[in-house]
Amino acid sequence: MRKHVIAGNWKMNKNLAQAVALADGMKEGLNALPDIDIIICPPLTALAAVRNAMQGTTIAVGAQNMHWETEGAYTGEVSPQMLTSMCSHVIVGHSERRGHFGETDEMVNRKLVAAVLHGLTPIVCIGETDAENRAGQTLEVLDRQTTRALAGLSAQQAATAILAYEPVWAIGTGRTPAPEEANATIGLVRKVVRREHGASAAEAIRILYGGSINPNVWPEFSVQPEVDGGLVGGASLSAADFVALAAQTRAAFLAKSGQ
Ligand code: PGA
Repeated sequence: MRKHVIAGNWKMNKNLAQAVALADGMKEGLNALPDIDIIICPPLTALAAVRNAMQGTTIAVGAQNMHWETEGAYTGEVSPQMLTSMCSHVIVGHSERRGHFGETDEMVNRKLVAAVLHGLTPIVCIGETDAENRAGQTLEVLDRQTTRALAGLSAQQAATAILAYEPVWAIGTGRTPAPEEANATIGLVRKVVRREHGASAAEAIRILYGGSINPNVWPEFSVQPEVDGGLVGGASLSAADFVALAAQTRAAFLAKSGQ
């Protein structure tokens, strides 16, 4: 059974004091939930402080983005080498990065490869837009994004990445696909990983669902066999909601693994 994951993406929210307060507010509840991977991704300005706040707990901290180069003349950017001393995970290719900042599949791939080489676990986002969904292009888009993102990785490296299927039309909208539909789509993404990197990588890689997750809808998603956890935006800004989502993820994991 693939170890389940719940990751919170705080996006561009919370100043330093607010971020530490939010981390402190969820720390005890999250630390009481073993068996799953719990990751919080605060803004870069609060990464070190939140990492310190979480010291001595099982909660991992991640960045929301990074450059692929190790160092150099890239004003305003942060490198994987800088992140390794601060966190263990990094979100790569979020649809907001692709949509607002022009990140291409090639850039996502460079970031992913750099993350892996520096020992950071990437959480790689893929997902179709509303227009692509309506045009029946979902699978084509996910196939392309997955194949290109993971290009150049060995089967072993691919297996350690985390994928997050986030339909762009479901992010921050309150709209979600049916849980069974998300399950089927994630199953097809897993087939792409199998074709590109083999059966054992496909069996091992964790694939999350993301997009308008909240504690009311999450139980139905998290029990789906292909869904290995979730990537949460808005609801991760509430300590109570995020702890509830982590508890639901753990319950689903324990049920699937027959515990
Ligand atoms: P949302 O965001 O949970 O607010 O829809 C998800 C994401 O962007 O990762």
